[in-house]
Amino acid sequence: MDQLNSNREQWNSRLGFILAAMGSAVGLGNIWRFSYVTGENGGAAFLLVYLLCIIAIGIPIIMAEFTIGRKAQSDAVGSFEKLAPGKPWIVAGFMGVASAFIILSFYGVVAGWTVKYFFSYLTGGFAVENDAQYGDVFVGFITSTYEPLLWQFLFMALTIGIVFMGVKKGIEASNKILMPLLAILVIILAGYSLTLGGASEALSFLFSPDWSKLADPNVYLAALGQAFFSLSLGMGALITYGSYLSNKEKLPGAALGVATLDTGFAIISGLMIFPAVFAFGINPGDGPGLVFVTLPGIFDSIAFGTLFGFAFFFLLAAAALSSAISLLEVAVAYFIRKFSWSRQKASLIVGGVIFLLGVPSSLGIGPLSDITFFGKDILDSMDFIASNILLPLGGLIIALFMGWGWKKSDALADSDFGDTALGNAWIFTLRYVAPVAIFLIFLASTGLLKLILGLFS
Ligand code: PHE
Repeated sequence: MDQLNSNREQWNSRLGFILAAMGSAVGLGNIWRFSYVTGENGGAAFLLVYLLCIIAIGIPIIMAEFTIGRKAQSDAVGSFEKLAPGKPWIVAGFMGVASAFIILSFYGVVAGWTVKYFFSYLTGGFAVENDAQYGDVFVGFITSTYEPLLWQFLFMALTIGIVFMGVKKGIEASNKILMPLLAILVIILAGYSLTLGGASEALSFLFSPDWSKLADPNVYLAALGQAFFSLSLGMGALITYGSYLSNKEKLPGAALGVATLDTGFAIISGLMIFPAVFAFGINPGDGPGLVFVTLPGIFDSIAFGTLFGFAFFFLLAAAALSSAISLLEVAVAYFIRKFSWSRQKASLIVGGVIFLLGVPSSLGIGPLSDITFFGKDILDSMDFIASNILLPLGGLIIALFMGWGWKKSDALADSDFGDTALGNAWIFTLRYVAPVAIFLIFLASTGLLKLILGLFS
């Protein structure tokens, strides 16, 4: 190990690394974002494209990020500097750091909402007369000026505090307990939700595709963006985490494990949300508030509902925290190395800037709701730019870098695949399948693909 690296932290154990990567992947993306994006894009057909994106694009790129990070033992930008000095691949690193700023800025806002709901249940729950009022309660809260900022601040302070102390070991330990608890709770709630009377509608919404939905090119972009967001992919989070890993670990199993867990979480949370959506007569396309409007209705009708509500939002906030930490870590690791800042200084400054950057996203729902871009409020616009554009673009560059920028034999050896059929399929995917698919989805969503195809017909 060289001088620079001699004081880099390493994970406690193989389990620690996998848990941290899983902690990064599992978060608001699986429950909040997955449910509303699936709802907005019509359900099953979207889900199918989403799964295809995970398998054909997501898993291969997870492997690429792990491989790059472990090999380079540096942050998102430094890894490219080290492995390909003077080459343009490094833009993927800069885009990653930029994505960390953008995503965490609005992620902190939504995570703040979950902390608020956790406290509300802790102090007895919501006083409403009927389920329909949960929508009013939620909208009243997120459109107010100061209250959401307070919860966002609290959440960001926690995130910064943990990255400040560099206590990845603490995260490893807490993930080990809290994530399985969240999984158990989501499964129980899904089981209950399925008894509410909306089960058959929900199951056909989620699993029997309405193929006509596939005519809308935006469905593909939404699915691609959701896959990247949920897997924490395309911005160097997994490069950074891979860099804390020593050479003894086997990467392919870890990549598959992370993707499987993340996807399982999303599907089960769909089974928790959508039966209730239909049972309560909520519109699945209602947007980002879906979870916050639907779940309180469940907690209202279940025995010990307040306790369930408290446990659920506590665990969801904890899952959001481990994701937020990985986002902040991408930027902080870069600033520590690049400007020789201390970890403490970097977390405070970078975290503080990200908090401030998130303030307009929060205000854009209430007092600044006149400000929109292409019909999206500020938060949605931030999300769109980062998740649907920057992450897939970053992923595209990472795939090309690994597929074309490395000697194939090195890539196979460094990834632990070795010269196997699977390894060769992986390289093939990175070289052709993933880049072409991402490129076509981009083209389609801008309308250009239709234009080009029109020329040939
Ligand atoms: N994957 C996280 C979630 O689902 C969000 C995230 C995106 C984290 C990108 C890190 C990097 O909540």
